[in-house]
This record gives sequence, structure tokens and C-alpha cells, in this order.
Amino acid sequence: MALVEQAAGASPQYAYFDTAAAAPPVPEAVEAAVSYLQRTAIDGPYLPSFRREVYEKLEQIRAAVAGFLEAKTSEIAFTRNGTESISLVARGIRWQPGDEVVVPDTEMLSNVAIWRMLESDAGIRVVPFEADSDGMLDPERLRAAITPRTRLITFVALSNATGAVQPVAEICRVAAEADVLTHVNAAQAVGMMPLGFRTWQADFISACSRKGLRGIEGSGILAVRGHLIPALTPALAGWWNTALEGDGITLPDTAKRFEAGSPNVPAILALGAAVEVVERIGVDNIHRSVRALTDRAVRGIRGIPGAAVYGPIDQNRLGIIPFNIDGVDPRELTDHLESRGIIVEAGHFMATPILNAYGITAMARASMHYFNTTDEIDRLVAEITAFAGKEAA
Ligand SMILES: Cc1ncc(COP(=O)(O)O)c(C=O)c1O
Repeated sequence: MALVEQAAGASPQYAYFDTAAAAPPVPEAVEAAVSYLQRTAIDGPYLPSFRREVYEKLEQIRAAVAGFLEAKTSEIAFTRNGTESISLVARGIRWQPGDEVVVPDTEMLSNVAIWRMLESDAGIRVVPFEADSDGMLDPERLRAAITPRTRLITFVALSNATGAVQPVAEICRVAAEADVLTHVNAAQAVGMMPLGFRTWQADFISACSRKGLRGIEGSGILAVRGHLIPALTPALAGWWNTALEGDGITLPDTAKRFEAGSPNVPAILALGAAVEVVERIGVDNIHRSVRALTDRAVRGIRGIPGAAVYGPIDQNRLGIIPFNIDGVDPRELTDHLESRGIIVEAGHFMATPILNAYGITAMARASMHYFNTTDEIDRLVAEITAFAGKEAA
């Protein structure tokens, strides 16, 4: 209950179950972005003292994000979104032709496309890896998939398509034992569950700020382990991350070297405010609250006649519930629910390999956060039940 009280910003009009696409930003995040923009409109963005103040604030936010991800400040780069973070890793590693990258079938397009591109651009080989029927990755089977050519395993911590929370630390341990790098896509996990370099022992973590963190659109995070920073070529260069020295350039020796050009100041200020809110509430509290809401929603939806819920049905699921109801078009269900003040999403969620494995082309997805209430979940279940009943009649 305490968590719900702190969740100002939740809509009085809609029960919002689409955090997996983007959560409503916390008011503090909106305020941080808007007040900055208003000030630039009134005084101009480049007053020397204001600029200094803003850039100092960005560095404070970098330190706060680092603390949140159990990283050092020097290991954090601001990006425009989760996709850019993944691409910076993919484009930055100095590949040898024949290097293998393990990409499970659980992955969303942003953690597939860039690796496929590198097959033609850099001669790497994408090695597919099948999740089990719940969408879970088995670390021991992954161990068996590692060959002398395996360079990296890239996988999502919390799947947008199945809601499965992977055994990230175990996968990273198996990889490290074989001298294989790990990139963990935390786009859905960040702000939802405790995570970071210490917890996971990953080499790279990418994330975005508009989902679990409840920042605004337009900012992402890349965390790169300190010893790997010099080994990763910056894919972007220009003002902000380079300086001319004679005929050459110099780069900072921190992860700031992966950022180029004008930073997205409003979005980063919002990210900073959002991280403060998560820290204030406590990510453990958020995790516990989302877990309880998830269990209630899974129980409710599974109880609807003709319902199929995809992904794990135990504690390995967090916040995301994809489902179909026999004889119900998920898109029609979504439109109907909106007319009843309930927001869910339908589609393939750009995760077609796992949908293919389930033999479906689309599904509905309810995704929740700590601002949702048990009453909203009960309403969601009741409205789906009523719609499905009408469709069957
Ligand atoms: C699992 C997963 N990975 C990556 C992304 C990409 O993040 P962004 O939209 O910030 O580029 C998303 C966002 O939808 C996602 O759900």
C-alpha cells in the first residue's frame, strides 16, 4: 500500500498495464525535464553559468546511475535508448572473422538485428540458442553451446515477450569460466529488480529509462566494465567525447568516450530524477510489490476459460504477462479494454523467434509496475473474462 501512495502520476482515468512498452514517467522526471526546457526558453540554453551547472548535474547523475548499477562512475555512458546501448557494444568490439555470438531465441529485435548485421559487416557468426518452453535459458545448456570461437553471449535479463527473468548471474558465471564476454540487456529489468555489476558479474549492461525506471523517452544507459573500456572502440565521435591533438584526436579513458555530440539534457535530467525516486522507494520494495501483483494477475488470467499464458508461471516471471484467449483476437481485446479504461498491448513485440516457438503470431500483454493496484488487476481479469464470454457466445 505504501508503494501505491508514493506512486503519484498514475492515471485516475486508466488502469495502465503497458509499462513494458513505457511506464508513465514519475512527476519528478517530468518536472526535471520541463523546468530545464522552460529555463532554456526564458534565459537561453547557453548562459555560461547555467551550462556549467547543467553539465555538473549530468556528472552527478552519472555517479547516481553508477551507484544504482553497482558500477563506477567512469563505467557509465549515457545513450539515447536501449537499442543504441546494445549497438555501441556490438559495433565497439574488435571482432575477428569467425567469432561467435550466442543470441537466444528470447531476444527482441534490438538485440538481434545488430548482431545479424555484423555477420555481413564483420564476419561474425550468430549462434542461435533455444530457450525452454517457458522462455528460460538453461546455463548448463549454454555452457555446452560455447565453442573455442565463442566471444560473447548477449541476452535479455527480463523478456518483454515472456516475462521470464533469466538466471543472469549463473549465465555470466558460466560465460566467464569459458572466457566469454556477457552483454545483459536490462531494458525491462532496470528499476524492477535489484541488478548491476556486483549482482550479475556481467561485462556490459544496457538499459533504457522509459520503462521500469519511469524516466522519459530519449535516454538510455550503457555500463561497461572498467577493464573493457579501452578495448571497446567508440562507434561515435565528435565534440563532447573527442579533442584534437595535432593531427589526431584524444578520447577520455572513461565510458564517456562512447557518447558524442550534444547530450539529451532533458532526458538525462529526467533519468536522474527517476533514479532518485527508485532509490527513495527502494528497488527491493518495488521488486516485492511487482512480484505480488504479477502472481495475482497470472492467477486471474490463467483462470479465464480458454486462456493460455506464455512464459513461466512461477517466481521466474516478473511484471509481464503475455496471453491469448481461445477465439479472441488480441488486438480487438486491446481496443475493447481501452474503451473500458484499461491499457494493455497486443502484437508480436518484435520477438518473433519465441512467438514462432509458441506457434502464434500475436498475443495480448499486460505488464505492471508498483503503481498498479490489486483492484486494477481484478478489474483487468473481470473485463477480459466478460469480453471473452461475449466473443464465445
Ligand atoms: C527487451 C528489450 N530490449 C531492448 C529494447 C529497446 O529499448 P529502446 O526502445 O530504449 O531502444 C526494448 C524496448 O522496447 C526491449 O523491450
